[in-house]
Amino acid sequence: MTTLLDVRDLIFHYADRDGPVRAVDRVSFSLASGGSALGLVGESGSGKTSLALSIMRMLPSNVARYEGEIWLDGQELLGMTDESFRREIRWRKLALVPQGAQNGFNPVLRVGEQIIEPLVVDGQASRQEARARALELLAYVGLPADIFMRFPHELSGGMKQRAMIAAALIQEPPLVIMDEPTSALDASVQTQITNLLKRLKRDMDLAIIFITHDIALASDVCDDLAVVYAGQVVEIGSAEQILLEPSHPYTQRLLGSIPRLHTDRLPEFIPGAPPDLRQPPAGCRFHPRCPLAFEECAREEPPAFALAEGQLSRCWLHAEAER
Ligand SMILES: Nc1ncnc2c1ncn2[C@@H]1O[C@H](COP(=O)(O)OP(=O)(O)OP(=O)(O)O)[C@@H](O)[C@H]1O
Ligand code: SF4
Ligand SMILES: [Mg+2]
Repeated sequence: MTTLLDVRDLIFHYADRDGPVRAVDRVSFSLASGGSALGLVGESGSGKTSLALSIMRMLPSNVARYEGEIWLDGQELLGMTDESFRREIRWRKLALVPQGAQNGFNPVLRVGEQIIEPLVVDGQASRQEARARALELLAYVGLPADIFMRFPHELSGGMKQRAMIAAALIQEPPLVIMDEPTSALDASVQTQITNLLKRLKRDMDLAIIFITHDIALASDVCDDLAVVYAGQVVEIGSAEQILLEPSHPYTQRLLGSIPRLHTDRLPEFIPGAPPDLRQPPAGCRFHPRCPLAFEECAREEPPAFALAEGQLSRCWLHAEAER
């Protein structure tokens, strides 16, 4: 399998009155091309959306630092000018279904017009061709053709989410980032959306980054999982490895906090709260909450140690494993 996306030491900090918010702090991961999905899993405020926005270069005005390397299909993106990035990459090679996408449509324009707009404005297709492509996509995501002429308020939450996915696919990007595509939807609609994501991956050969706080949902859709804690990826591995043999103490606690059927074991909540990203703890960011912490943890930040079968863990407990 070839690598489609390779993110290396990505840093993205916001400027804040009290100092920088280290929302993305030396994040590295990669994703294979075509038909693969990586789940980015983490608690609220861990930096998942910031990571998505920084990959899409959708930066707010208060950016304090934006550094590192993002390689997409062999091309480095951070070195590109804004103009070339906009013209060649964003939406064409890399698309985003933003968090809260249900509110992402302009309420006064018909849904279909908004889906075809980038194709028509950029002169990539005639209105007729763009319309035909949009209708094809609407059918694919399970929406009737008349959605094209409807206004956003005439659609349910689940329908808007599907229409947003169709909009992200209109320029046929090989990679789509979906930020919490299933939250705010009820359970049955959630399942329909995750089934759609599996179909997109399989039939359209699409690479997907699926962002969610729900590790069980992510493991259902994704081949690989990256666990995010306080602006950093602390563990990466196949979904199976992470579920069956989580190596990082945070991942272990995260899995331990999920209620299970048919067992006497009660879910164990992780003590304490995620840190303030303006002043993250020194050393390992999880150390104030980690039951396995030892002296070195508070002193020095652990790098990502490679374990068997490609699993990576940012934890000092695995320093020996790599040697
Ligand atoms: N524009 C901004 N300026 C300053 N800080 C910001 C800005 N946007 C987000 N943050 C902060 O960055 C951190 C990461 O936020 P982010 O939205 O990326 O987390 P998240 O993992 O997506 O959370 P959620 O699961 O709630 O969507 C938080 O501390 C947040 O308050
Ligand atoms: S480095 Fe130390 S504090 Fe951090 S997760 Fe590992 S054992 Fe816990
Ligand atoms: Mg978010």
